[in-house]
Amino acid sequence: MKILLTGGAGYIGSHTAIALIEAGHDVSVLDNYSNSSPEAIKRVEKITGKNIALHEADAADKDKVMSILKKEMPDCIIHFAGLKAVGESVDKPVEYYRNNIDTTLTLLECMRELGLKNFVFSSSATVYGDDHKPPFTEEMTKGMCTNPYGWTKWMQEQMLADAAIASSKFASQSRGAKGSEDEATDWKEPLSVVLLRYFNPVGAHESGLIGEDPQGIPNNLMPFISQVAVGRRDHLTVFGDDYDTPDGTCRRDYIHVMDLAEGHVKAAEYAAEHTGTEVFNLGSGTPYSVLEMVHAFSAACGSEVAYEIGPRRAGDIQDSWANADKALKVLGWKTRRGIDEICRDAWNWQSQNPQGYGE
Ligand code: NAD
Ligand code: UD1
Repeated sequence: MKILLTGGAGYIGSHTAIALIEAGHDVSVLDNYSNSSPEAIKRVEKITGKNIALHEADAADKDKVMSILKKEMPDCIIHFAGLKAVGESVDKPVEYYRNNIDTTLTLLECMRELGLKNFVFSSSATVYGDDHKPPFTEEMTKGMCTNPYGWTKWMQEQMLADAAIASSKFASQSRGAKGSEDEATDWKEPLSVVLLRYFNPVGAHESGLIGEDPQGIPNNLMPFISQVAVGRRDHLTVFGDDYDTPDGTCRRDYIHVMDLAEGHVKAAEYAAEHTGTEVFNLGSGTPYSVLEMVHAFSAACGSEVAYEIGPRRAGDIQDSWANADKALKVLGWKTRRGIDEICRDAWNWQSQNPQGYGE
């Protein structure tokens, strides 16, 4: 299949590009590099030996997106492009809603006009909110999000599911007809939408050539630990050790980014065979605490990662992990890499690229 990745130069998109190419698909990328560098795609080309068509564009710029889609006419779009920093979203809600919602709406309008059918979306376990106890299953009701970033994921899921319903209604009505007078109902194809709820993506490609390269001070645990290990930061602050867990620190479902990437291959192939909306958790189902991650990383890098215990972080939930049975049953996907590979590969990337792509 021809697959276009919006935000494909970013952390998860670049790893997914490798998995897709290895599975025999053709990949093109649309990115505005607001949080990435074209260098990541050059390295993907080096790893895979394949050329990738690279389009610099804002995914909310309808004219540009239309001309790129007309050129590529992809069988599937995987929509990674978005702003993702939780704390920043609290300070810049307008920018977050504008960017994340607009990109999805623009893509939907273009898909409707061009009769494109298959769409895979990067959602997040954050949509479960704090209302349920893990393991989270897809049929649980979505919860109350604690920040604008989370709400953009929640809303984009809803928008996509609503568009899939309308497209199936109107595409069947207009099939064979010349098209309606009303552009808004003129769906040529019933959409196939796959919503992927990621748990905590971490690690890097085995080569160490690509990995996570956050701008500024990392918000997330694993890049922070890696930067302490490589000497860019003094120590990690563990956000609270008074939770009701065995060691008092929060537990999460950390998933190797290449396992996540392989989940996208399955999702794109599934989308091509179906219509309507389907939701999948992509996680391992196994939780690890913050201190377990610190110790595993220390073992992988061969020195103790310095840490101190600090206060809880506002908005954190104690526990989050997936029930990933549906992805196994329907997509035939499950994680293959464990915590040791996660830490090994994260360290391999960080130690080979202490300043990320910026070197
Ligand atoms: P990332 O920031 O590394 O990648 C996002 C990419 O999108 C970047 O290359 C950025 O330049 C691009 N982009 C942003 N806005 C754009 C726009 N308007 N037009 C074109 N390109 C644009 O982030 P990531 O970690 O690779 O995340 C990818 C997706 O997965 C995001 O939607 C994110 O919200 C979602 N997600 C990530 C995580 C995580 O922990 N990394 C967890 C759950 C969901
Ligand atoms: C965070 C976001 C979530 C988003 C996800 C993307 C919040 C509240 N949630 O999830 O919406 O989808 O990132 O991956 O920000 N920790 C420390 N010290 C640190 C950093 C983190 O102790 O310096 C702890 C946190 O308290 C948490 C765990 O490490 O218990 C994981 O944190 P993080 O990597 O930020 O992910 P989430 O909080 O799960």
